[in-house]
Amino acid sequence: MSDTAPTLIHRFEPATDAARPPLLLLHGTGGDESDLIPLGRLVAPGTALLSPRGAVLENGMPRFFRRLAEGVFDEDDLRRRTDDLAAFVRQQQAERGLAAPVALGFSNGANIAASLLLRHPGLLRGAALLRAMMPFREPPAVRLDGTEVLLLSGTNDPIVPAASSAALARLLEDSGAAVTQHALPLGHGLSQMDVALTRGWLAAL
Ligand code: MLT
Repeated sequence: MSDTAPTLIHRFEPATDAARPPLLLLHGTGGDESDLIPLGRLVAPGTALLSPRGAVLENGMPRFFRRLAEGVFDEDDLRRRTDDLAAFVRQQQAERGLAAPVALGFSNGANIAASLLLRHPGLLRGAALLRAMMPFREPPAVRLDGTEVLLLSGTNDPIVPAASSAALARLLEDSGAAVTQHALPLGHGLSQMDVALTRGWLAAL
């Protein structure tokens, strides 16, 4: 685990409604720190937004960790980058006086959010995982009681196998997380359904 927090390029938007937990926005492959800001504002008006850029570049496209092929992760790199991201979040919380954030991750960002849950239980208040898959072949055993997770998958997603998102849901449930899952008639891209479900789930936290 890293002792010092890495410097990650990021954007931070302070809360106008301090009662709501901050959102940790985690973009997909090829995105950056500005990508999910509009989505964050839409699903959680008034909340603080912390939005880092993934430090890995794949053919010029930012990601949060390396992969060997599509859907085949470099798990050593994933573990290291997950620990770096956890250290960054802790440092930002301390500097800015932030409560435990809720992660809102899409695709590659959802996958590192799942990894954050599994490697750093208690860091996140909850996580909305949009188009996530199981990040580890042999996931660590953790307890996630009290952690709320929203899992939105697409039944026509060409990138995320249904078995992988189902295995992630099962693992999180078996770990004690309160999991809300919807398989939407969609592909990998997001739609208004994702926005509405995420907004409703966040409002009920
Ligand atoms: C990943 O690499 O995290 C997933 O395949 C999703 C993607 O970024 O395409």
